Amino acid sequence: MTNRPQETKLGTFYGIGVGPGDPELLTLKAIRVLSSSDCIYVPMSHLSTQDYVSEVVHDYAGSECEIKEVTFSLASDSTSRCQHWQQTAVEIATKLQAGQDVAFVTLGDALLYSTYIYLVRALRKEFDAARIETVPGVSAFSLVAALTNTPLGEGQQSLHVIPVANNLVRIESAITSGAGVVLMKIGSRLREIVALLEQLNVLDRSVFVSRAGLPDQRVELDLNHLRDADETTGNLAVIIVQTAGE
Ligand SMILES: C[S@@+](CC[C@H](N)C(=O)[O-])C[C@H]1O[C@@H](n2cnc3c(N)ncnc32)[C@H](O)[C@@H]1O
Repeated sequence: MTNRPQETKLGTFYGIGVGPGDPELLTLKAIRVLSSSDCIYVPMSHLSTQDYVSEVVHDYAGSECEIKEVTFSLASDSTSRCQHWQQTAVEIATKLQAGQDVAFVTLGDALLYSTYIYLVRALRKEFDAARIETVPGVSAFSLVAALTNTPLGEGQQSLHVIPVANNLVRIESAITSGAGVVLMKIGSRLREIVALLEQLNVLDRSVFVSRAGLPDQRVELDLNHLRDADETTGNLAVIIVQTAGE
């Protein structure tokens, strides 16, 4: 009988959504995977959710777990951004090939406007046999709906999720189509959005929550209070506009 060298078992790459900021909204699955991972990547962010994400990781990671903080490029050209992701993907691929389970944590849900999406793409390019498992998290907009008891959709109604960025036109057409609308990535456009909602006559069907689940969360059921909001009030915030009903 010939002795064949034992093949190393490949590790798994996990993307873990840790919810928007309330530690009670972490799933049991997220906790289990964090506790059993050999290495956890924590994306560093300029947003002050960093404390929440780091706390979750430190609370649940095993004592032998390697915790790696990663800063991702915010470069405006996509080539340098991709190179940056690719470097991290190479590192992760090496760990998976050595049999380690590696996790990457993201705020909210892992597959909604998250850096995890770019990393998965880069990892597939680097190591197409990589085993990838995503653990969904509670999205910020689900928590905002819950905090304000706002239905996200009823019966046959559609729901549009719009990252505001530089496009106010899409908001107007979604609202006038009669759909429910979730606005994310509001940032410095808050005052313009409030003015638009007033013009469309939907202020009384709109709610605003910033920093949902975090100690300094702000819930506004009357958006008139945001008319004179400063440039930073829209950071880490969601607005939901309910449909007029059927
Ligand atoms: C890069 S996206 C991440 C979305 C996240 N993956 C999710 O599922 O909610 C960032 C946007 O999510 C929203 N967001 C994330 N966390 C939030 C929170 N705790 N409170 C309110 N909005 C939040 C804001 O609209 C923010 O601009």
